[in-house]
Amino acid sequence: MSDTITSNTTASTTAEKEICSTPNCGKPANLHCPTCEKLNLKPVSNFCSQDCFKLFWPIHKLSHLTIDEAKQVSSAFNGFKFTGKLRPYKITPRRTVPAGIQLPDYAIDSVPHSERAADRRNTPIPIHNKEEIEIMRELARMSREVLDLAGQVAKVGMTTEELDIIVHNAIIERGAYPSPLNYCGFPKSCCTSINEVICHGIPDLRPLQDGDIVNVDVTLYWKGFHVDLNETFLIGNVDEAGQKLVRVAYECLEKAMAILKPGVMYRELGDVIQKHANQNGLSVVKSYCGHGVGRLFHGNPTIPHYGKNKAVGTMKSGHIITIEPMINEGTWNDDMWPDDWTAVTKDGKRSAQFEHTILITDTGYEVLTKRTVGSYIDRLKKE
Ligand code: MF3
Ligand code: CO
Ligand code: CO
Repeated sequence: MSDTITSNTTASTTAEKEICSTPNCGKPANLHCPTCEKLNLKPVSNFCSQDCFKLFWPIHKLSHLTIDEAKQVSSAFNGFKFTGKLRPYKITPRRTVPAGIQLPDYAIDSVPHSERAADRRNTPIPIHNKEEIEIMRELARMSREVLDLAGQVAKVGMTTEELDIIVHNAIIERGAYPSPLNYCGFPKSCCTSINEVICHGIPDLRPLQDGDIVNVDVTLYWKGFHVDLNETFLIGNVDEAGQKLVRVAYECLEKAMAILKPGVMYRELGDVIQKHANQNGLSVVKSYCGHGVGRLFHGNPTIPHYGKNKAVGTMKSGHIITIEPMINEGTWNDDMWPDDWTAVTKDGKRSAQFEHTILITDTGYEVLTKRTVGSYIDRLKKE
């Protein structure tokens, strides 16, 4: 680490409102990074102290790369025909978790052994008992905190790599494991899916741009259970069509949840979701589905979001599932980047998604990952 930080002697009124750029610090910051200033980077990163600046330097210095330096040059992408404008950027080495955090069975060798062993069609949907539900409730509360944090800090100029660090640190601070990390080899601790990315985008060194929509999908593993949720956030000024896409994606999830109760067939959810999407001139992704969640990250039942699907299973009290409709501006068809993770729309138009982990109860349902302050739509209106 070569630079030391300079004290900010000007514009103290605006600087005081800045928050320290070191992830999860949260303190007010009035020290400017000298390299950011020299390179005339906007926004300049601010830090609360020399200590925070030094701590975050190994990561922060990556934001001094020029856009061309930050771009990924992997030969895997040679000749690949991108469907839209988004491009891959460099991905940093895999992060580790401290000793003492309980690891899922794939954390070391990347193979989700228990998921593979459970044959999706012939294994009954687990019914969770009181103790298991209590763990899921507590874990869902923590998971919600982590996703909300990501939503609060995401802004123009911040890379999805930085978002991933913040999510990773917030998860291990809570004594949990970031479920995506090494799941089937996934290299990061959350998924960040921008614009035409449908899902499973890999956090990288691309700074978020004014007008982007970015989905952050967070899953936590704790005491033997997973909780899975995501939201799509607006970055800066998003055009009307983008705002509508995000709003309708959220409404699709709400409308699907409204019919949840024992006795209803899982295949009915897709009809509700597709109807609302189509009424708004939007389409529904078919290749990626909601799922059972709990002891397994992805278990029975499989829950398609499109209409007239043939999903197996009837809702019963004690089931815990995700619903996570991916709604597109254009075609429902998807394509895959050569990184074998990033799912994009075939026509390069945008896709938005929301996901909750939900318990089926005797009388209906309980949204385990519910917002504690206001609904997403309330928040959109306030912004
Ligand atoms: N969280 C995603 C879901 O909603 C799954 C991500 S798998 C990963 O099901 F490996 F990409 F992280
Ligand atoms: Co999920
Ligand atoms: Co998810």
